[in-house]
Amino acid sequence: MENSFEKIVSFCKRRGFVFPSSDIYGGLGGFYDFGPLGVELKKNIKDSWWRAMVQRREDVVGLDSSIIMNPNIWKASGHTETFSDPLSECKKCHKRFRSDHLEDPKKCPECGGEMMEPRNFNLMFKTFIGPVEDSTAIAYLRPETAQGIFVNYKNIVDTQRMKLPFGIAQIGKAFRNEITPGNFIFRTREFEQMELEYFVKPGTEDKIFEDWIKERMRWYTEELGIKPENLRVRRQEKDELAHYAKGCVDIEYRFPIGWSEIEGIASRADFDLTQHQKFSGQDLTYFEDDTKEKYIPYVIEPSCGVERTILAVLCDAYEEIEGGRTTTTESVKEKETLLRINKKLAPIKVAILPLVKNKPDITNKAREVYGMLKQNFACSYDEVGAIGRRYRRHDEIGTPFAVTIDFDTLEKNDVTLRNRDTMQQERINIQDLTQRIKKEIYEN
Ligand code: GAP
Repeated sequence: MENSFEKIVSFCKRRGFVFPSSDIYGGLGGFYDFGPLGVELKKNIKDSWWRAMVQRREDVVGLDSSIIMNPNIWKASGHTETFSDPLSECKKCHKRFRSDHLEDPKKCPECGGEMMEPRNFNLMFKTFIGPVEDSTAIAYLRPETAQGIFVNYKNIVDTQRMKLPFGIAQIGKAFRNEITPGNFIFRTREFEQMELEYFVKPGTEDKIFEDWIKERMRWYTEELGIKPENLRVRRQEKDELAHYAKGCVDIEYRFPIGWSEIEGIASRADFDLTQHQKFSGQDLTYFEDDTKEKYIPYVIEPSCGVERTILAVLCDAYEEIEGGRTTTTESVKEKETLLRINKKLAPIKVAILPLVKNKPDITNKAREVYGMLKQNFACSYDEVGAIGRRYRRHDEIGTPFAVTIDFDTLEKNDVTLRNRDTMQQERINIQDLTQRIKKEIYEN
């Protein structure tokens, strides 16, 4: 079923995934906050990336560099000169737009007035370091995490004994003063990136580039469970490439707004390290022990946005079922919202539901089960409303399992384990519950 973007936006606010930033003050354009469920989902996605890109690989190490860095870094990387978008202003209403996004660059999309000639607008956020706000104190919030990696390349080679090919990975905030942020969390002014810089011997980059494209598609489909038909690899045309890039592909997701980029994978040659060698005056060449060769490594860079991945995961999992689902144990008969999200990513893994809330024997037992399960899983204790309604509330946020404690539990020490996707219910002994849920979530 096609989901409109508005449905996802309102679902995110209604259930506490994403709120507009500074909401009670009327919001702030291009900034969002992640609520209790959003923050769990975000963490699960970042953990999945880190496991796949760092923890399970011998050839990649992690890094957490500072957001504000020496401003010369941005001169070396080219951001000070060229990290800009064309901005044009309406002569009549003085609203400003990104002119390459306008259908008619000469007419204002708001009032139809005539637009001024576009000028380049640098997207880096400026700030000052220390108490004096003069030009020598200017610094920038990083517009990408990548440069923090390049400037630590030498530290890491010197301290970690890494041998090519190897990678450095980083997850962190990036800031861009986008002229027209929009489409909810798709284009914001503050966001997070998950970036890998993979250093290779020149001449080996083409095959490694193709290998990374396959690996990254595998992550989206196998680890995140995104439907393959909603993903595609788009190769950038020669005239789209940055002047230093040897190749670049976008991984795109079929959002309700159309196919759009969630990740870029670039073959960047030796551009970045060469620039930093030049601007820092430090030797950034790599010495190959076996052949005694010295060279600047080439770089393959898979760079992915956390918020766009969250949005893709939510769009992919969100379903509305007119008339609800019916099984042997449940019949809904009204419109049902179901988040069929990968179990590993689900913000809450288990809902603990006492059948009734006014029988202390039952609620005490339910709290005991809750106390046990929350040692291992993100859980929610919920005793409000009819049991069917509670199942539905948890289906909507993608909770894969519900555990119901009833009168039989008191005698037999077993509970009902309900599965979100099949709505199947089975009795299971409390002592087997943790292992069973672990197996269902992490081994299937
Ligand atoms: N170091 C390479 C780099 O930063 P990019 O294509 O500019 O490349 C990489 O950004 C990813 O970061 C994008 O594919 C996107 O997922 C995310 N991203 C970029 N700008 C964004 C924005 N304004 N809001 C949300 N995500 C953004």
